[in-house]
Amino acid sequence: MVELQDFIQRVRRAASFPDPEQAVARLLGELLEMPRPEWAQQGEGPAEQLLHHALDVTAYLIRGAPMRRFPPHEHGMSAAVAMLEGTETHRFFAIDPGGQLRLTGIRDLTGPCVEWFDERAIHSVEYRNDAPVLAVHVYLGDLVLARRRMWDHDGKNPSRYDQARYDSLAEDISAEAG
Ligand SMILES: [Fe+2]
Repeated sequence: MVELQDFIQRVRRAASFPDPEQAVARLLGELLEMPRPEWAQQGEGPAEQLLHHALDVTAYLIRGAPMRRFPPHEHGMSAAVAMLEGTETHRFFAIDPGGQLRLTGIRDLTGPCVEWFDERAIHSVEYRNDAPVLAVHVYLGDLVLARRRMWDHDGKNPSRYDQARYDSLAEDISAEAG
């Protein structure tokens, strides 16, 4: 069992290593193998719970939002997803010369697994079933304060990332996911 403050300290230390992706991935791999800590349980908490943010590291506990697709966005920094339970479906995009997003791939991340996204990644996240989802997302920087972009679902209308707008654009995909 690892307390939240202890976990955050370990992530921050790993993020300061010469190869932070590898060090943080190792730590997240350990998290997947240990008994589930009290701070990383299913429950009544929000779909996205901010665990920590500072200049070096941001961490969220994600409980997913069944049958929802969130709009495409960038982070502007490396990001790791540790799937403890359930599946996140990620769509990846590139920017066309005209400035519109083009879908380049779709990947299901099913726990337990750890996956890294590089700092140029543009993606959207969706939860295609009702099964519980539990994930820890770690970013190598301050995601809360970062200046970054989001797009509408059709890949148009780039705008500055805004959490309220991001949440309001979440689409119900029950019909499509069947
Ligand atoms: Fe993201």
